[in-house]
Amino acid sequence: MDAAQLDTIVERYPGATGRVLGVLEQVQRRAGYLPRDALEYLARKLAMPLSELYSIATFYSFFTLEALGEHVVTVCMGTACHVNGAPRIVERLERLLDVGAGETTGDGKFQLTTADHAFSLTSARCFGACSMAPVLRIDNRIFGYVTPDKIPAILRQFDWEGNHHRNY
Ligand code: FES
Repeated sequence: MDAAQLDTIVERYPGATGRVLGVLEQVQRRAGYLPRDALEYLARKLAMPLSELYSIATFYSFFTLEALGEHVVTVCMGTACHVNGAPRIVERLERLLDVGAGETTGDGKFQLTTADHAFSLTSARCFGACSMAPVLRIDNRIFGYVTPDKIPAILRQFDWEGNHHRNY
């Protein structure tokens, strides 16, 4: 995003209340993430430390600092999903998508994107579909009662072709 676009967004939030969150939300919606150069520009424009903007950006799960892949796979790590096997779902997704093997514990917050930017793997807390735990969401579609073995068929619905050389 260029400076003029960022200025337009900032002008839409003249008041102090909710200004920073509103501006960041607009940038995220338009760019799909919060680019570093946009944050640097906004820190100057809003006269606040860059570190403060980063704190806000990393606190709220809605914000992301990296461009997401074409399809976003979000694994619910809420309590019901966790006890019903969400960590094993994450583990299988890591291997199938070939991202972050061993980097995630399957417990916390993570965001990993495939080298071709086709998929991002991330986590969230409770989609409100606990009765179908474990649950994952791909883009806007929710999949319930997921088991590791069901994941390849689910991913294929999103043009995942798999890596047939690997042993899953
Ligand atoms: S804990 Fe996963 S949907 Fe509620």
